[in-house]
Amino acid sequence: MSTRIYDCLKAIGEKIIENKDFLTDLDREIGDADHGVNMARGFQAVIEKVDQDNPDIGAALKKTGMTLLSTVGGASGPLYGTAYMEAAKVFAGKTEVNGEDFGAALDAAIAGIQKRGKAEKGEKTMLDSLIPAKDAFSEKLAGGASLKEALDAACVAANEGIEFTKTIAATKGRASYLGDRSIGHQDPGATSLTMTLETIRDFL
Ligand SMILES: Nc1ncnc2c1ncn2[C@@H]1O[C@H](COP(=O)(O)OP(=O)(O)O)[C@@H](O)[C@H]1O
Ligand SMILES: [Mg+2]
Repeated sequence: MSTRIYDCLKAIGEKIIENKDFLTDLDREIGDADHGVNMARGFQAVIEKVDQDNPDIGAALKKTGMTLLSTVGGASGPLYGTAYMEAAKVFAGKTEVNGEDFGAALDAAIAGIQKRGKAEKGEKTMLDSLIPAKDAFSEKLAGGASLKEALDAACVAANEGIEFTKTIAATKGRASYLGDRSIGHQDPGATSLTMTLETIRDFL
């Protein structure tokens, strides 16, 4: 029997692989039509490489990050790779997830993405879903909500983040070459990020 963290990562991978064409089509509008292809290739490797029998969440996330770094390519490979590697540090040696650790992992992922990509909220990137998701998550949790309830709120905020990316021009990444012509299109990275959070919510 495989461990829960493996099953969760596999579920994320399957969601991304299922949506490969959709994510690639979004990237065709404002980028170079490879986001879904890149991410699906990366998560196929994650499903193959992460140890199914090791319940250590940190070890699984670290392997995921390293695998994404080496297989995804593009801008999103290093960014997602770093996000998982930073989240891994929070879960090192742990086999259970609680709200506090999950929030700390989201913070660590955001910090890692920002250190590498130098983007802020409002530049039409994955951060436009991730930062509001983290804020909603923390607010809910502080109000006494369960991990599941806080994740529900995070997913609502992440989806609102996708909608917000449609209204703004990209100022980071390949889509920024289009300037104002990127307005009206939703960001592929914000979309894959939201799918990731929704899969985790549904899994828990
Ligand atoms: N500097 C950045 N910070 C955060 N996210 C970024 C940055 N640059 C690009 N992205 C994200 O990466 C996504 C594009 O990924 P992908 O298509 O795989 O890479 P590439 O743009 O190199 O082809 C964008 O939709 C955006 O969400
Ligand atoms: Mg691309």
